[in-house]
Amino acid sequence: MLDRIDTLAQQREAFRADVLDGLSRPQKTLPSRWLYDDRGSQLFEEITALPEYYPTRTETGILNDRSADIAAIFGPQAVLVEYGAGAGIKTEIVLAALDDPRLYVPIDISGDFLKASAERIRARFPGLPVAPVVADFTDEFDLPADLPRDGRRGGFFPGSTLGNLGRKEALTFLARMRRHVGGDGVAVLGVDLKKDIDTLLTAYDDSAGVTAAFNRNILVRMERELGAEVALDDFAHEARWNAEASAVEMHLVAQAAGTISVAGRSFAFAAGETIHTESSRKYDVDSLTDMAGEAGWSLDHVWTDAEGLFALVSLSAA
Ligand code: AVI
Repeated sequence: MLDRIDTLAQQREAFRADVLDGLSRPQKTLPSRWLYDDRGSQLFEEITALPEYYPTRTETGILNDRSADIAAIFGPQAVLVEYGAGAGIKTEIVLAALDDPRLYVPIDISGDFLKASAERIRARFPGLPVAPVVADFTDEFDLPADLPRDGRRGGFFPGSTLGNLGRKEALTFLARMRRHVGGDGVAVLGVDLKKDIDTLLTAYDDSAGVTAAFNRNILVRMERELGAEVALDDFAHEARWNAEASAVEMHLVAQAAGTISVAGRSFAFAAGETIHTESSRKYDVDSLTDMAGEAGWSLDHVWTDAEGLFALVSLSAA
């Protein structure tokens, strides 16, 4: 119990530090990981089912169509290491297709979430050992030393979460995954592809306003967890295309001049000024091949849907 209180207190302290740092910058910013409290995670689940948000259903479709190819990449008796647990149905599609998997290793920052998804997998695949690892996969960490060494290790990172990392962070992540799976390791990643800007922006600004609520929830979290004073109605959701970064960005746009007060500090906003809350980078095969190469991987296969909206790619240790 003490551990949990400690973790919560540490989390809140880290949130406060990020808010104070982010709101002090010329382009005010808040790291996107703070979007995912309980309410934010629930809103994200709703986003994945929206008609405008094509990534989740498209990726699930590709996985269903290509599950045999993907299982062949992982090979028999694989140890499947998933970065970020709870891809739910996507994990189940892969596990069901694998030939006699040795072990499933889900990694997630939230111990509670991890426990729930490990239990779900144990119930769905009785006999498959599950070894959950509590870790922030954007930080440096090692896999447990006692994981089996005989089956081939395969990393699985669906959901285009790679796109929420900056280029440097994404490279560090890919290199870490390469280290985790070892010299004969493989990985399968889900990545969102560059496409017409209208389709992209609509996916991040849906007509039901769920993405807007998801974005604005970070301010609600600041009020609740940090005692911040925020005129919530003064901030509107905006999705923008940043061509240079090849990313859809979410911003909270101040509709009027005002201030946010938090932890004894006050941050002034001009009307129209924004807080940048998330970047969602979009790739093409060339940019992915380059990035994978820099991180010690070679990109072997690319599977897409008929419209070329989304891709699953397989990597092998170079
Ligand atoms: C989690 N991540 C891959 C989502 C994305 O598409 O970048 C988060 C998201 N933000 C707004 N809508 C969805």
